[in-house]
Amino acid sequence: MHFKNKVVWITGASSGIGKELALQLAREEAILILTATNLDALNSLKVELGNTQSHILTYNLLDIEGISNLVSQAMLLEGRIDYVIQSAGKSQRAMADQTDIVVYKKLMDLNFYAPVALSQAILPHFKKQGYGSICVISSIAGLIGFPLRSGYAASKHAIKGYLETLQCELYKTNIHVSIVYPGRINTNISKNALAGDGQQYGDTDENSEAGMPVAVCCKKIIAGLRKKQKAIYILKAERLLLWLWWYIPSLYYKIAHAKGAK
Ligand SMILES: NC(=O)c1ccc[n+]([C@@H]2O[C@H](COP(=O)([O-])OP(=O)(O)OC[C@H]3O[C@@H](n4cnc5c(N)ncnc54)[C@H](OP(=O)(O)O)[C@@H]3O)[C@@H](O)[C@H]2O)c1
Repeated sequence: MHFKNKVVWITGASSGIGKELALQLAREEAILILTATNLDALNSLKVELGNTQSHILTYNLLDIEGISNLVSQAMLLEGRIDYVIQSAGKSQRAMADQTDIVVYKKLMDLNFYAPVALSQAILPHFKKQGYGSICVISSIAGLIGFPLRSGYAASKHAIKGYLETLQCELYKTNIHVSIVYPGRINTNISKNALAGDGQQYGDTDENSEAGMPVAVCCKKIIAGLRKKQKAIYILKAERLLLWLWWYIPSLYYKIAHAKGAK
C-alpha cells in the first residue's frame, strides 16, 4: 500500500475534505498528524481513527508568524514528514462591494499566506530528507472567478501562482507539489464561509448540497497523489463552466451571474 507507514500531515483535519482524507489514509495505514483549531473535533476524529498512529497538533493558521515553529514541532513528532496536505481554508459568501477589507485580509492569510509560510518552512526539511510531497487544496475558484467569492477566488488564484512556480523550481528534485482543484463538494464549506462583515455565513447553500460526496472527492485526491499529479481536478458539471470560460466567455459570465450574483 502506497501510504503504509508514510507520515502524512493534514491541515484542516477537523472537518470536510481534511477529515475524510485522514479517514481514508488511515485505512492505508498512514501515520497521521492532524491540525486544525477545533480540539474537540480532532479528539473525536482520533477516536474514530481507532488504532491508527496519529498525533494532534492544534494550531490557528491565521497566526502566520508562528508557522515555522509549528513545522518544527510537526517534524519532531515522527522525525520526518512524507506528505503535507494543506486543506485548511475558508470560503466567502458576499458580493465584492459588500465585503469588508478585513475579510479580504483574512481570506488571503488563511488561503494564501498560511500555505505559503508552511511550504517555505517545510521545504528545507524536505531538501534535507531528499524527498517530500506538498499538496494544497485550491479550488475551481482558483481557476475562474465566481460571484460572491471575490476574496476567496483571489486567494485561491494566488496560491496556484505560488505553487506552480514551486513546481518549476523543484522540477529536478524529488519534492513533489500537487494542486487540487475541486468543484462543489458536499461539506460545511458554505456554513463556515465568511459573510461580508466577517461573521460566519452559517448557511448550507445549494451549491454545497448538490456537491460531490466528500468520500468520492478524497478518493480522487489520494489517487492523484499516488500518481504524483501536479494538478488534480475534481470536477463534474463544473468542467462545462471551465470550457465555456475558455471558449465562449460571454456565455460563462451570463451563466455565472445568473447562478451566483445576489
Ligand atoms: N467543499 C467545497 O466545495 C470545496 C471546493 C473547492 C475547494 N475547497 C477547499 O477545500 C478545503 C477544505 O474545505 P472543506 O470543504 O473541507 O471545508 P470545511 O469542512 O469548512 O473544513 C475547513 C477546515 O479548515 C480548518 N480551518 C479553518 N480555519 C482555520 C484556521 N484559522 N486554522 C486552522 N485550521 C482552520 C477547519 O478547522 P477548524 O474549524 O477546526 O479550525 C476545517 O478543518 C478548503 O481549502 C476549501 O477552500 C472546498
